[in-house]
Amino acid sequence: MMPNKLIVANLKMDMALNDVINYLNIISDKINNKKVIICPTSIFIPYFLFHNYQVGIQNVFYESQGAYTGEVSPKQASSIGVNYALIGHKERRQIFKEDDLIVNKKIKACLKHHLKVILCVGESKKDIDKIDTNIILKKQLICALEGVPADEFKNIIIAYEPSWAIGTSITPSNEQIRNIVDYIKDIIKVNFNYQDSKVLYGGSINDINITEINKIENVDGYLIGEASIDSKKFLSIIEVIQKG
Ligand code: PGA
Repeated sequence: MMPNKLIVANLKMDMALNDVINYLNIISDKINNKKVIICPTSIFIPYFLFHNYQVGIQNVFYESQGAYTGEVSPKQASSIGVNYALIGHKERRQIFKEDDLIVNKKIKACLKHHLKVILCVGESKKDIDKIDTNIILKKQLICALEGVPADEFKNIIIAYEPSWAIGTSITPSNEQIRNIVDYIKDIIKVNFNYQDSKVLYGGSINDINITEINKIENVDGYLIGEASIDSKKFLSIIEVIQKG
């Protein structure tokens, strides 16, 4: 049975070539549908494409080409068959100091080169000591999506990932996630006049808590980090989601 919910695996900067090959051997034939998107480290993307997976790139630069040593452009990613790009991930924002303006430029560059965007938003613990979560999310969304043409919204998926839940084993309650997902959909409706936005939840999803988290009706899928790097855990998570 095809899962109704989208499943995005963020393999982060994990795995060397032999791990990628083992991983592909274990998952092959078990996940070959369009609702699973795998985001490997850039240099390993061709291996996943070769096995016919839907692939996302974990980061891109906003220029199409030029003297930007070490960067990969949306045009280059698109040219090899990458379908999605993760933009605004907490690790990019915190470690690489990417702000809302950079996120906005990257989104526009991706859409220009036909890469669908998975836009990550979420509050940090430091933020919420000072300011309400909804205000933080509204600002992130409005700045990130400023100037994006209305007909491109179907190519944007939003991932709600509170930064305090990423890699910490702590998750918000189902009620908190449900309320925030509704709030995000509302922001997009009111500010961008788009009625059908898709919102994922991400942050410390694992093979144990997925059964409970998967009860939240308004979530359109999941962004899974650490637990997706372990092929067996990832397959059990997919199985739970597929059963609904
Ligand atoms: P995590 O990461 O599942 O390890 O918390 C989520 C993410 O990086 O998007």
